[in-house]
Amino acid sequence: MKTSFSGIILVLLIQLGFVLSYKEYLFKTCSSSGFCHRNREFARNVQRATNFVPQYAIDPKSVEVDPELYVIKGQVLKHLAQLGKSVQLPFELTLLDKNNVRFQIFEDRSTAQPKNALVNTARYNETTKWSFKTDQVTIERVKDEKVIKDENHVSFQFGKDGKYRAELSYSPVRLVIYAGDEAQLVMNDNNFLNYEHFRTENENSKHLSPYESDFDMFSESFKETRHDKIPMGPESISSDFTFKGFKHVYGIPEHADSFNLKDTTGSDLPYRLFNVDIFEYVPNSRMPMYGSIPFLLASKPGVSVGLFWINSADTFIDINKKHEKDTSTHWMSENGVLDVVLTVGERPEDINESYGSLTGYVQLPPLFSLGYHQCRWNYNDEKDVLNINSLFDEHQIPYDVIWLDVDYADSRKYFTWQPEKFPDPEGMLKELDITGRNLVLIIDTHLKTGYSLSDTIREKEITIKDSENKTFVGQCWPGEAVWLDSMNPASQEFWDEQHALSDENTFMGRFSTNFYIWNDMNEPSIFDGIETTSLKSNLHYGNWEHRSVHNVFGLTFHEATYKALVKRLESTERQRPFILTRSFYAGSQRTAAMWTGDNMSKWEYLKASIPMVLTLGVSGMPFAGADVGGFFGDPSKELLTRWYQTGIWYPFFRAHAHIDSRRREPWVPGGSYTSIIRDAIRLRYALLPMWYTSFFESSQTGVPVLKPTFYDNLNNIESYDIEDQFYLGNSGILVKPVTDEGASSTEIYLPDEQIYYDFTGGCISNRSYQLTEPGFITKDVLLADIPMLLKGGSIVAAKNRYRRSSHLMANDPYTLTVALDKDGDASGRLYVDDGSSFNYERGEYLYLNFTANKTSIASTAENNSAFAESLGNIKVEKLQLLGRRDITEAKAECDGETWNLSFKTEGANTIVTNPKLPVNKNWTVHLQSDGSSQSAEEEDKPKGALSSGLLVSVGAILASSAAALKYFSIL
Ligand code: GLC
Repeated sequence: MKTSFSGIILVLLIQLGFVLSYKEYLFKTCSSSGFCHRNREFARNVQRATNFVPQYAIDPKSVEVDPELYVIKGQVLKHLAQLGKSVQLPFELTLLDKNNVRFQIFEDRSTAQPKNALVNTARYNETTKWSFKTDQVTIERVKDEKVIKDENHVSFQFGKDGKYRAELSYSPVRLVIYAGDEAQLVMNDNNFLNYEHFRTENENSKHLSPYESDFDMFSESFKETRHDKIPMGPESISSDFTFKGFKHVYGIPEHADSFNLKDTTGSDLPYRLFNVDIFEYVPNSRMPMYGSIPFLLASKPGVSVGLFWINSADTFIDINKKHEKDTSTHWMSENGVLDVVLTVGERPEDINESYGSLTGYVQLPPLFSLGYHQCRWNYNDEKDVLNINSLFDEHQIPYDVIWLDVDYADSRKYFTWQPEKFPDPEGMLKELDITGRNLVLIIDTHLKTGYSLSDTIREKEITIKDSENKTFVGQCWPGEAVWLDSMNPASQEFWDEQHALSDENTFMGRFSTNFYIWNDMNEPSIFDGIETTSLKSNLHYGNWEHRSVHNVFGLTFHEATYKALVKRLESTERQRPFILTRSFYAGSQRTAAMWTGDNMSKWEYLKASIPMVLTLGVSGMPFAGADVGGFFGDPSKELLTRWYQTGIWYPFFRAHAHIDSRRREPWVPGGSYTSIIRDAIRLRYALLPMWYTSFFESSQTGVPVLKPTFYDNLNNIESYDIEDQFYLGNSGILVKPVTDEGASSTEIYLPDEQIYYDFTGGCISNRSYQLTEPGFITKDVLLADIPMLLKGGSIVAAKNRYRRSSHLMANDPYTLTVALDKDGDASGRLYVDDGSSFNYERGEYLYLNFTANKTSIASTAENNSAFAESLGNIKVEKLQLLGRRDITEAKAECDGETWNLSFKTEGANTIVTNPKLPVNKNWTVHLQSDGSSQSAEEEDKPKGALSSGLLVSVGAILASSAAALKYFSIL
C-alpha cells in the first residue's frame, strides 16, 4: 500500500511521544465526513422546509402479515420526484424474544455496477452473525388477535398482557413503541429517515431530493481519504428516534464522556462510533475510541427503552436535548442495511436483559481474572518477572496475573520469545503457578512481514487485502506487518493451531496452561493507515469492503482467540479462557474483557474512568477497567494511591504503564502510600465473593456489575445524573471513590431514605446515615479512606484472610456482614463454583440466599449439587451484625443440630465469633434481644447532613470512641 504522509508523521510522532495536537488533523469530524455531513444537511433542510413532502412511504398493498405471523413484510418506496419513479426498499418487522421489536430495511443491489469490480455489491447484512449470540434468535409469534392492519398502519401488541404495542405507519414511515397508550420511542419522528440507494455518478443529480446535499458522494475531500474511490457511491442510512419524556440517555460507548449523554447540537462532533487507536484521548469528548456499541438506554420512572442500531460501519449519533421533555437522536451510518431493535420494559434491567438476549450476556470470567493484574510495557525478562512476583509476597500484597507486553517477543514477532531474555518461559510459568498465579501475553492482530507466520497467512490467503485483492501491508509495532483476516473462516483453523496445546515444539504447545491472552491493536490500529486504522477500501473475506465491517472487526479477532483457547483448555481444569481486548463491538462481552486504552497519569482521567466504566456496564460490556495509574506519564504518589482505591472497583482491575514511565508497582511509592495501596488491593480480594456473585448475576440477566445509582431509585430523577458513585452489583455496597487532588472531604449522594451504614474502606464503624429525603452527606476523608456505605437491607459475604492469590483463597472461611434496613430486614446472595471450569453450566455451583430480620439470619441454597459436597469444610467464621447491641442470645440450627454461639459487642455492633456455619448447608441463626437497639447518637452526626437539616438518625447506634473496626483481618 502507499504510505500516507500523515501516516509517516504519525509514526514519527508516536515514537517521539508528541501526539495531542495532531488529532484534529487526523480524525474526521461530521463536516469532513461525507455521509455525516450529508445527513445532517438533510436533517436541517427537512426541519426548515415549510411544506415538507415525505419521500419515503410504505406501499399499503405490499404489506403482508406472514400466515404464521412471525414477520410483517412489505416495501418502503423511496420516491424520486425528478425521475417520476420509486426505488423499492423491502422491509421486515419482527418481534423477537424479550420485547425486542426489530425493523429492517434492505436494498437489492444485485445489478449494481461498482467502480471496483472486486467489491461485493450487496449491502452488508452480516453484523448480527458476529454480534448476536446465535444465528437462531427467537422470533416470537405475534398472536393473530393482537395484529391490526388497515390502509394506514399495521400494529401488534406484545409483552405481558399485551402491555406494549408497536405501530408502523405507512406515510410518513414511522414506527412507534407504546407502553399503554403513551408513545415511548418513535422512529422517524422528525422525518430524518434517509436511505441512499445505488445510483451512478452520471445519473446522480436526478436522484437527489431537494433536501439532500451531494457532498462527497463519489469522492472524498478530507485530505487523508482522497485516495478512496467509494466504489458504491453514496450508500448511507440514517434515521432519527425520539425518546418521549426521557431526559436521560446512556450508552453508545466508547467515549471519554459523561454517563448521561450530552446534547451535540451545534457541535461538529456528534458521538462517533468508529474504532480507532485514539492514543492520549481527551476526557469530555465525543471523539471515537477503540470500541463501539451502538446501543442506547433511556430511563424514566416506570418505563425504560433501548435502541440497538445494528451496523458495523462508521457511525455518528446526534443527541438533541433542547426539547423540554423529549430527547431526540439522529443515527447516521456510512453503509449497511437499516437494522434496528427497539425494546421497552419497566426498568433499565429489563432493557439490559432484552439486549443481552440478542448479543449474549457477559462471560462468567475465571475467578482469578477478577483479582489484581500487574502489567507494564514491559517487564524486561524472566528475572524481572520473577522478581516482581516475589516482591508482591515480600510486601504481602495479593495479585493474580503478571503481564508481558510486545517486547517479550523476538522483534515483536508474536508467538516467539526474545531467547536471551526468556530462556525458560515454561520454568517461569511453573514458578508463577506455585502460588496460583498466571501470565498474560500480548498477541496483536498484525504479524511482522518476513517470518514464518506472516508468510503462512499470506500463502493461505487469510490476510486482509487491499482494494486490488493483494495482501495489505502497513506499519505497526513490529514495523512492516500484515493482518490476519479473522472474518475468514479459514483463519480459525490457523489460529487454533497457533494456540493449541500439543506435544510438538510449537510456541504455545510447550507451556503449562496458566497463561492467557491480551489482544491489542485490533481496531485494527495501523500507524500509517487512515485515521490510525485500515483503509475503508481494503477487502475482507466475502469481498466485503472494510468500510462495511470496520467496527465489528476487533470482535472477530478476539472471538477467534477465545475459540482457540476454549479448544486449548478443553481437557484441562482451567477451561474458561481469559482474553483482554482493546477493540470491541456489541457481543464482545461473551468472550473478552476490555480496558479503556491509553489514558494519562492525570486526575481528570481518573475521574473520567468512572462514567466510562458505568457506560460500558449499561451497554452490556461490564468486564471493563482503565489502566490504574494512567498509561502515559508518571503519577504523583497521591494520584497513584487514589487510583488504586478507585481501580479496585473496576470490574477489570489492572495497573499498566507506558514504556517510558517510571516503575510504579505498589511498593514503589513506599511508606504509608504502599500500605494504603496494600489495604485497597486486599479489600478487592476480601470482596472477591461479591464480585464473583455480581458477575454471575450479570452473566444470567445482563444487569451491570457496577450498578448506577439511578437503577435502584427510578422515582428519584436527581439520581439519574449521578456518575461518580455506584453500587457493587446487588451487594448494597455503595462506593464514592475520591478522584480530586488533595481532597479532605467528599460528598456522597444518598438516593433514598434508607439507612446507610458507614463502611469506609470496608470497615464497619459506629456511624450510620439516614436522610428524610435524598441528598448529599459530607464525609471527611484522609488519604487512607475509601468512602463506602453499606445500604440497610444487605448481607455481604467476604473472605478476609490475606492470601497471595485468589486461587489460594478457595477454602477460606467467610465473614458475613448483616445490615438491617429501616424495617429490620436484610438479604444477600453468594455464588460459588470451582472458579475455572464450565461445570457450572451443568449445575455445579451454589447460589446461596441469605435472609435476616431482627430475630434470625438464615442461609438457603438454591442448588444442591455434587459441587456443594466439595465445599464440606468451608464455614462462616464471623457474623457482623451492624447497629445491634441488643443481642442477648444467639443459637445456630443446622441439619437438626443446634448449638450456642458466642458473641461480643464492639462499639455499635455485635460480632458473632466463629459460628462455624457450613456454607454448603441450610442453616438458621436465632437471635434473642432485649429490644434496646437503634438509638440515635447526636454527637456522631456527619457535618453535611447536619447542616442540610435532612438527617433523621445518625450514628444509629452508640458512638464509641474506638476507631472503626477493620473489616478484614490480616493473618
Ligand atoms: C497500545 C496499548 C498499550 C500497550 C502498547 C504496546 O498502546 O494500548 O496498552 O502497552 O500498545 O503494546
